[in-house]
Amino acid sequence: MRELQAPKGVSEYFPPRSYYFEFVRQTLIDSAKISGYQLMELPVFEDTELFRRGVGESTDVVSKEMYTFDDRGGRSLTLRPEGTAGVMRSVIEHNLDKLALPIKVWYSGAFFRAERPQAGRYRQFYQVGIEAIGLPDPEIDFEVIAIADRAFKSLGLKSYRLDITSLGDAQSRASHRIDLVEFISKLNLDEATRARSEINPLRLFDDKREEIIAIMADAPLLLNYLSKESKESFAKVQELLARAKIDYVINPRMVRGLDYYTGTTFEFVSEKLGAQSGIGGGGRYDGLMAELGGDDLSGIGFGLGVDRILLACEAEGVFDSTLNNSELSLFLIALGPEEKVFVSVLLNDLRDSGISCDMAYGDRSLKGAMKSADRSGARYSLVIGPDEISSGNVLLKEMRSGESKEVRIASLIEFLTPSNS
Ligand code: HAM
Repeated sequence: MRELQAPKGVSEYFPPRSYYFEFVRQTLIDSAKISGYQLMELPVFEDTELFRRGVGESTDVVSKEMYTFDDRGGRSLTLRPEGTAGVMRSVIEHNLDKLALPIKVWYSGAFFRAERPQAGRYRQFYQVGIEAIGLPDPEIDFEVIAIADRAFKSLGLKSYRLDITSLGDAQSRASHRIDLVEFISKLNLDEATRARSEINPLRLFDDKREEIIAIMADAPLLLNYLSKESKESFAKVQELLARAKIDYVINPRMVRGLDYYTGTTFEFVSEKLGAQSGIGGGGRYDGLMAELGGDDLSGIGFGLGVDRILLACEAEGVFDSTLNNSELSLFLIALGPEEKVFVSVLLNDLRDSGISCDMAYGDRSLKGAMKSADRSGARYSLVIGPDEISSGNVLLKEMRSGESKEVRIASLIEFLTPSNS
């Protein structure tokens, strides 16, 4: 084993698998872009206070999993564990909430949580997320869920489930909280669990311990306490999903890992992954912006886990062989040192014209160079020796079929330009 290794639990992608990672990420991004969402590129670290206030002290994410450090000026910074709080901070700081609403943004990048690493759970992982901020319309809830669903379908995923529920508005939650706190007060809980439930009693629904699951079986469910407005809004979201033929399951016990949720919340779960099966989730967050010092605007969004979606795609075998894991159109091989100079210049000219190509470097035999051509995944290859240079003609070999065709070197650009080939 070599001496230096990546820190424990980080995900890394290198060729050839990085091609599929990029393909998945781009498909998720495309789904957001065709729905009018625009890029937001944000810092990877923020003031620790942002996540304490935004994500919530009762969550594992804030209480146990943050990568927090002091910078050289003694300020407490934290590597972002999620994207929503940062988006809100930026919207407020730059007064984007004063522009036309809703603000619709997407983001993509690395996120950090000091979790116990296992298959599909990493300490550095990747998300593509969107946020639609400013309006409470249930049509936007539907849009957000549909964007995720469309992305999964266009990747070819089939074995996943959509769980939804509603956490209602402040009034719904307040009346539910009275009964839930009363219910919890009669339970025999350890100190830490009670302390967590005092910050957010809903957390107990998320407890994975068998004994807690058993005692929570009779707990009052928030879905039964929805105000008239919340009920109507949630019904509208369901109607829209049904009309769009997006299957869903109502899961009244679903509690997301972050404290800011209100109203519609949802999770996509892959049926082909093990314990870490959540491939994406999100929901509405009514008080978040005001909590962070902005106007009291509603918002909704999701985070999709690129790492897990790639695992789900692999588990479902969605990548067929027609997906060529190379961007290259042509691979060039020079027979000797003089031809190598010629090929270097030709390669450079082809690239100037936007043609993707590469060449065999190093003093390899023709056989070795042909192997590199195979490995490159390029659509065509060609070999240039003294004869080709003097005649000005080359044999362009289509790698998949093995068929060759004579082409003039001077016509290569025209021949390989995508709209012509
Ligand atoms: P989240 O459910 O914490 O939501 O994360 C979203 C997705 O990120 C998860 O469904 C999962 O696929 C992936 N993920 C989370 N943690 C890990 C990990 N340790 N390793 C690998 N993948 C992971 C959020 O982050 C919210 N900000 C989503 C949101 C946006 N809600 C509203 N707007």
